Amino acid sequence: MPPIDELIGQLDTIRQQAEQELTAADSAEKLEAFRIRYFGRASGVLTGLMKNLSALSPEDRAVFGKAANSTKQKLQDLLDQKAGTMGKGTAAPHTDAWQDITLPGRGIARGHIHPITRVLGEVVSIFSTMGFSIAEGPEIELDYYNFEALNMPGDHPARDMQDTFYLPGGFLLRTQTSPVQIRTMEKTPPPVSIIAPGRVFRRDWDLTHTPMFHQVEGLLVDRGISMTHLKGVLEAFLRAFFGMDTKIRFRPSYFPFTEPSTEVDIGCIFCKGKGCRVCKTSGWLEILGAGMVHPEVLKRVKYDTEVCTGFAFGIGIERLAMLKYNIGDLRMFFENDLRFLRQ
Ligand code: DAH
Repeated sequence: MPPIDELIGQLDTIRQQAEQELTAADSAEKLEAFRIRYFGRASGVLTGLMKNLSALSPEDRAVFGKAANSTKQKLQDLLDQKAGTMGKGTAAPHTDAWQDITLPGRGIARGHIHPITRVLGEVVSIFSTMGFSIAEGPEIELDYYNFEALNMPGDHPARDMQDTFYLPGGFLLRTQTSPVQIRTMEKTPPPVSIIAPGRVFRRDWDLTHTPMFHQVEGLLVDRGISMTHLKGVLEAFLRAFFGMDTKIRFRPSYFPFTEPSTEVDIGCIFCKGKGCRVCKTSGWLEILGAGMVHPEVLKRVKYDTEVCTGFAFGIGIERLAMLKYNIGDLRMFFENDLRFLRQ
């Protein structure tokens, strides 16, 4: 037999045997032993066979070289495949434990919607359903819009409760969302029905007050609007937010920009009206301020008070969120303690 045929025959035998061994190998150690036996640099079986190359004629050398390489490649592929199913590549032939691919992966941490954002979204959605559109105004506001046009001139005692941060040029950080009423009516003739959600600022810091908090302002002006409309809209809102069986009461109050003015309470959702710590034993929780827009305010924006009337209301978002999620300290909303936010 010419030496080339014999060599090719040997190659075939080696391949068959190697394949059998590989099929039988059932541990990383045996795979490594296999690799050394066949591919080892010094005494590997395939390496040894290649040494015959130099003794062949150039034509035979080409034929054998090709056959040997393809056998080698085939065995290498099989070895890699086998090592792969054992969870271990041949690139690093250690004998340490395999990776357990059934272990659960590390989860990607998901963020949460801040409770204030969530409540704000809910309030906006309830009023949008009723047909109110959304208006916005600047957080850095002119004294005129924040106070003056709302019937609170420079010497008005009601300004005391809303001390704020003053900036040069008659500007201040707005203390309420009510100025958006004025800005909206200046731009739009009646009828208007808007809500204005946003940040407001005051010089306050205790259990129930922070220097920045959120309000939603509401305004509806049209022909023949009365206190009954105000009651209907606010009752619908409070029942949508707190539940259909919520008890509601309107108390007379005072705001410079409404006449008459009212504050609205709901029956305490914690003790169901029996009296507890949250409602200070009264059985009621104060929720919002409202009233019929003061004629002086309407005149300022050149609305005809003979033709139209309107109502307005202001809701504190933090107050709603504290009640909804039973949170005792308002400051917790803004400390951004992740343990609080994750709950
Ligand atoms: N702006 C008032 C406040 O911050 C809340 C308020 C009361 C708004 C009565 C209104 C209203 O529109 O009619 O205390």
